[in-house]
Amino acid sequence: MSYVLDKVLIDGGSIQKRVKELGEQITRDYAGKQPVAVCTLRGAIPFYADLIRVIDLPVTVDTITVSSYGSGTTSGSLKVISDMRTDVKGRDVLIVDDIIDSGKTSLALEKMLKERGANSVKICALLDKPSRRVVDIKGDYVGFDIPDEFVVGYGLDWDEKFRNLPHVYTLKSRE
Ligand code: IMP
Ligand code: MG
Repeated sequence: MSYVLDKVLIDGGSIQKRVKELGEQITRDYAGKQPVAVCTLRGAIPFYADLIRVIDLPVTVDTITVSSYGSGTTSGSLKVISDMRTDVKGRDVLIVDDIIDSGKTSLALEKMLKERGANSVKICALLDKPSRRVVDIKGDYVGFDIPDEFVVGYGLDWDEKFRNLPHVYTLKSRE
């Protein structure tokens, strides 16, 4: 099956406006702290780059690449493909993700960072598909709730395509 862009679900201007609001909220919530903002590669790249520039705090920037594999409704296990460099012991960590779908990746990552001794772990995701959740997790900061549709753009891919688009799009199958 091959897919092409269908329509714009969230335009770049609306994304920027919402990212600014999230940045302001994070700035207020972490006032006086020096959080570690972790970019989950590769889907969160554009969101992360925009977000950290509207957080008015001395954030530590870092990246991690993980993939979750698990079955059923457990968090499964997390495979760390490329780890972060910061020692998170005692730190306040903000995971920055592209989308919370089943929730397995975020939950497993949160668990791992807590096991490493983080003082607090929160999740910031550009998008959330609440209807797809199979594990009990909630984003602490969410840009937009979206319906159960596959989306691409602004970091999100289908088959490694469309990550560089400025808007979030739905897809349709090519006839
Ligand atoms: P989860 O562990 O099921 O929450 O998986 C989240 C990951 O699945 C995201 O970080 C994305 O890489 C991918 N994903 C889930 N839904 C979509 C989508 O609609 N478009 C593109 N990638 C998605
Ligand atoms: Mg992906």
